Amino acid sequence: MIFLVTGCSSYIANYVIKKLLVDGDKVLGISRTNPGIVHHNFTWLAHDLSKSPCKLNTASVDIIIHMAAQSLLNKSAVEYLHSNILLTYHVGKMATELKPRAVIYTSSMKVYGEIREKIATEDIDRINPELYGQTKYFGEKLLQETTVAISLRMPGVIAVGSHGWVDSIYHKLKKNESLVIYNAPYNHVVHACDIYGIIRQMCTMGYYKNDVFNVCSNGVTTSHDVVKLMKDEILSQSLIEVKEHKNAVSHLISNKKLLTIYKPMDIKDSLKLYVKEMLSSEEEKDENA
Ligand SMILES: NC(=O)c1ccc[n+]([C@@H]2O[C@H](COP(=O)([O-])OP(=O)(O)OC[C@H]3O[C@@H](n4cnc5c(N)ncnc54)[C@H](OP(=O)(O)O)[C@@H]3O)[C@@H](O)[C@H]2O)c1
Repeated sequence: MIFLVTGCSSYIANYVIKKLLVDGDKVLGISRTNPGIVHHNFTWLAHDLSKSPCKLNTASVDIIIHMAAQSLLNKSAVEYLHSNILLTYHVGKMATELKPRAVIYTSSMKVYGEIREKIATEDIDRINPELYGQTKYFGEKLLQETTVAISLRMPGVIAVGSHGWVDSIYHKLKKNESLVIYNAPYNHVVHACDIYGIIRQMCTMGYYKNDVFNVCSNGVTTSHDVVKLMKDEILSQSLIEVKEHKNAVSHLISNKKLLTIYKPMDIKDSLKLYVKEMLSSEEEKDENA
């Protein structure tokens, strides 16, 4: 199949693209900076998608995986307007011309804003989402109006290069720093290999229709157990102080709908894989230094 991946220099896209290439698929990737992927079936197109759609010299694309975005929180409205809204509008325009079977859009659990339910399903109310979450939701709607779009509402995605809570804990544990953990039930994470797995499964099933899925690892643990597991895997000497906190995240993500088509990895296996990959990428860097 031929995949067009926007935001191909992001760590999630990098992970997904490498898996697609191993499967024998062709991948066109768009970003402003070079993703550094060298493969005979990969073509990098340097383009600023916030300015205009990208003209392709190809007759057809089977699937667009739309990952390009400003993914950090607390950026300005103008930044999100360009990087998330106009950029996604341009991707929608490209989809109208290229007529892929579907656009798979990496959306975010942030579309919901404050989650007041104990279990976050796809149909809970969206309450006061911050600008980032609002623009990801707007992007979902823009794409659904112009093409066939499947939105994956993702929590923190872990892999080498990630930048969320799990990543910050990993680096503190590596430095043997003391940690204070506010304990709460936890399933707010997914490994990048499951993003690939979901996309592959959708293509295999021919699941091409406007839809929205919450995404997270399988199973539930606690934030304290996440830290203990990572500490053991890293052989860290960090001291961990556990506190109960009334403002700690208390909801869990429901991936029940996703489970009807794809079973993600267990949360503990996802964390173990993440730590293993982080350790070996650091070893590789040391060897090359
Ligand atoms: N990271 C997470 O935990 C997480 C969670 C939920 C959802 N998501 C979503 O997953 C996607 C990837 O997230 P990430 O954290 O990996 O993002 P990231 O590291 O910030 O990467 C963003 C990507 O978008 C590209 N991009 C941004 N502006 C562009 C423009 N004007 N033209 C072309 N490309 C542009 C960047 O490429 P250049 O800068 O090279 O142009 C980069 O490849 C995003 O859609 C994000 O909203 C991520």
